[in-house]
Amino acid sequence: MRVVCPGSFDPVTNGHMDIITRSAALFDEVIVAVLINEAKTGLFTVEERMALLREATADYPNVKVESFRGLLVDFCRARDARVVVKGIRAVSDFDYELQMAQMNHGLTGVETLFMPTNPLYSFLSSSLVKEVARWGGDVSAHVPGPVAARMAELFQQCQG
Ligand code: PNS
Repeated sequence: MRVVCPGSFDPVTNGHMDIITRSAALFDEVIVAVLINEAKTGLFTVEERMALLREATADYPNVKVESFRGLLVDFCRARDARVVVKGIRAVSDFDYELQMAQMNHGLTGVETLFMPTNPLYSFLSSSLVKEVARWGGDVSAHVPGPVAARMAELFQQCQG
């Protein structure tokens, strides 16, 4: 079965990696789908996010990284994927995720499976990681190696 793990991934964290790698162990093929959101400027371009995700998932041959714009359900239909996998860090994630899952199911019948995040990563988000890194904090325990290196480089350039 082919599943889609969608998100902004600005940048990918160890929490995302937990969901992606556990999905890769359960399903034949995992498409990590990076949203192209023209309304929002990220820290990383979509191409950079995809390159970092590809590096981080290089050891998982059944994981592919792609980007999409527009509706997630249209992307899933185009890739013939009937299941979306989403990580749930805490009850606070659940409200909005449930709404999206129900809307998406209503639109095309795509199913959403919720995977509880490893509690090691319950507090982790891309926004927090960016804030800590921006002020010189060490985020190397929270993101894949190439992401930590790239962020250190970026924020050093800003300060230098
Ligand atoms: O990492 P994020 O920002 O929490 O991911 C959110 C994402 C990309 C999964 C969600 O915003 C999404 O699916 N966007 C695509 C547009 C869409 O389909 N919107 C309708 C959702 S019901």
